[in-house]
Amino acid sequence: MCGIVGYVGYREAYPIIIKGLKRLEYRGYDSAGAMIYDGESLKHSKTKGKVTDLESRASAEISLNGSIGMGHTRWATHGVPNDVNSHPHFSNSGEISIIHNGIIENYEPLKKELINRGYTFTSDTDTEVLVNLIEEVQRKENLKIGKAVQVALNQVVGAYAICVFDKKYPDQMVVARLGSPLAIGIGKDEFFVASDASPFIEYTSNAIYLEDEEMAIIRKDKPVKVRKIKDDTLVDPYVQELQMNLEQIEKGGYDHFMLKEIYEQPNVIKDTYRGRLHANEGIIQMAGVEDNLEKFTNAERILIVACGTSWHAGLVAEYIFEEFTRIPVEVEYASEFRYRNPIINKGDVLIAISQSGETADTLAAIKLAKEKGAFVFGVCNVVGSSISRESHAGAYTHAGPEIGVASTKAFTTQITVLTMIALRLAKAKGTLSNSDFHRYLQELEVIPEKVADALLTNDVSKEIAAKFKDAPNCLYLGRGYNFPVALEGALKLKEISYIHAEGYPAAEMKHGPIALIDESMPVVVIAPKQGHYDKVVSNIQEIKSRNGKIIAIVTKGDIQVRGLADFVIEVPDTTEALTPLLTTIPLQLLSYHIAVMRGCNVDQPRNLAKSVTVE
Ligand code: G6P
Repeated sequence: MCGIVGYVGYREAYPIIIKGLKRLEYRGYDSAGAMIYDGESLKHSKTKGKVTDLESRASAEISLNGSIGMGHTRWATHGVPNDVNSHPHFSNSGEISIIHNGIIENYEPLKKELINRGYTFTSDTDTEVLVNLIEEVQRKENLKIGKAVQVALNQVVGAYAICVFDKKYPDQMVVARLGSPLAIGIGKDEFFVASDASPFIEYTSNAIYLEDEEMAIIRKDKPVKVRKIKDDTLVDPYVQELQMNLEQIEKGGYDHFMLKEIYEQPNVIKDTYRGRLHANEGIIQMAGVEDNLEKFTNAERILIVACGTSWHAGLVAEYIFEEFTRIPVEVEYASEFRYRNPIINKGDVLIAISQSGETADTLAAIKLAKEKGAFVFGVCNVVGSSISRESHAGAYTHAGPEIGVASTKAFTTQITVLTMIALRLAKAKGTLSNSDFHRYLQELEVIPEKVADALLTNDVSKEIAAKFKDAPNCLYLGRGYNFPVALEGALKLKEISYIHAEGYPAAEMKHGPIALIDESMPVVVIAPKQGHYDKVVSNIQEIKSRNGKIIAIVTKGDIQVRGLADFVIEVPDTTEALTPLLTTIPLQLLSYHIAVMRGCNVDQPRNLAKSVTVE
């Protein structure tokens, strides 16, 4: 978690850093700080709160003149969010500063040793230990800053993306990565450092993504030198051309990124299948799948690992894969999978789903599966992300940058990719009839228009939101393909509005949650015409007879549920397997409006972060 930004060049560093931090706030936003070297001293400012709080404070504290500097936006791990624990941190001499994304796991013994040597600490952070370790190594062995960072990192256990500046070497910045992402933007006589490329896309479209255990020394007028931290070997870095553009990471007239991203769904779903789905020709082709078709078709089992919303997409995929391909599927939270000695066989295919491609637990699950001989396929959104690189093969979702912390377009594009994979495998295995295969292809092709239609429920979702915005609890029910949608609807509501919400398979209601139902309990029931409709209608009747307030997501033209529910939201009809792509839309809108009406920070909900790069 945490976002880091650095600049080495000829422009004023401060505005670049502040703007960059704002773009990285999705990674954490409980405190922020910046350091600028003005030719004499390391001017810095840091504060609990958001980057705007830093801005109002920094103008009085920081010299705005300086063309080398760094900034940090934090998601607290060690030490509560307060001014002192905010980054940058400084060595005891005050000459070395550091920003850090990650966790130094062995910071306690290192700290003890440094204290024995006379070092003092002002914060509770592991990062302050690292910067003093660098200083101690430098002092003891009389090393240049690059070497000192390298030696210190070889004593460290944990994860990091760091940016280090030493006043004694005022023309350079040292950066390194292990487990947390770090991109270096390559300009003409200037360089940018950041957790992702968004802080520097208006300056350059060339970037180097450091690999794990690599470090680089960045000087204004010299090519970047990348080395292995462990054995000092030089690495020839791959300079990647960025695909992102500025428009994609701005709000484009919407009040919030989340709303913009909800509305982007028709287009991004099209982007996801563009060039891959040819409905008229009856073709689905995805390079990562084609190249490994046998591994998939011979698989005795598919394991899916993910976290959060991506895990919900995995659950939808379980229904789709089993139905279309008849390959058994197991879906598991990556965090559980990695710590339970799972049985992984050589012929297993593991699909890792991750928007960011940086989630620490998912990454660790992949590494474990690889060690045990599974074939790992990544479904990521962020191009060049750690999970996409660590996987044997994969397919990008092409949803464009998702900035709102609550995931929306990532979910629907993940389902789109996974549906295409399942269809391709079904064709190869012959597990779907020709007519069903073609019908699914046709339906998938028109899904973007249907999603656009589902977005027309915005007004009714807003009206319903006004009625339930003060509810303390909410229950979401769905069956079959729409059970994961119920989980996702509940997650969206709790994430951004802080209303307690639970998702349940509708039939399970009578094994517990039914006890909660009374006239004050809103129950969102996902009841499309396709899929266990009659059973869900019975569940609705059970809620009704206990006076629960029913908000039903139904297929256009539905009469039966309309007669029972207090409120209905209609989405277009589609084939059962694709209903999640439509039923999820009003649930996203409902949560969004409730959160706005409750005055919550929709794009940056409390305690959360977009990219969870710690365990
Ligand atoms: C965090 C985010 C969620 C996301 C989850 C998994 O918790 O707040 O929105 O679903 O991480 O992230 P990933 O990037 O792996 O999909």
